Amino acid sequence: MKPDDLLKEARAAAQKAYAPYSNYHVGAALLCADGTVFTGCNVENASYGLTLCAERTAVFSAVAAGRQRDFVSLAIVADGESLPYPCGACRQVLSEFCREEFSVYIATADALDDYEVVSLGELLPHNFKLIDDV
Ligand code: THU
Repeated sequence: MKPDDLLKEARAAAQKAYAPYSNYHVGAALLCADGTVFTGCNVENASYGLTLCAERTAVFSAVAAGRQRDFVSLAIVADGESLPYPCGACRQVLSEFCREEFSVYIATADALDDYEVVSLGELLPHNFKLIDDV
């Protein structure tokens, strides 16, 4: 799947965001090695700290669906003018399953063509590992 198509899936996912507090809508689309795509959106809560980001929603959905732990790339799309780089918590969650070469495509909803691509290794060097086996 091309980055453009994955970005479109992420933009569609952003429209499902539950974001009454920030009014900031984020969508993520995670491409699995078998071609399956899992999407996620941010889901906010009145107790703000319970909010779940779009990226982690996508990863957890894929894992919870079973057997999907081999991920190829991720697209992230959000409102606004600034590129929606993933937060630190999401970077660490991605690092649980993805290698440093894993590609992350990032764009705003109004300018999908102007996407940026970064690797997970660039986003999160020196990720935390409980057991140093990688
Ligand atoms: N958010 C994400 O969905 N992904 C991130 O990587 C950072 C932030 C969401 C959480 C919250 O609903 C809103 O953006 C504002 O922080």
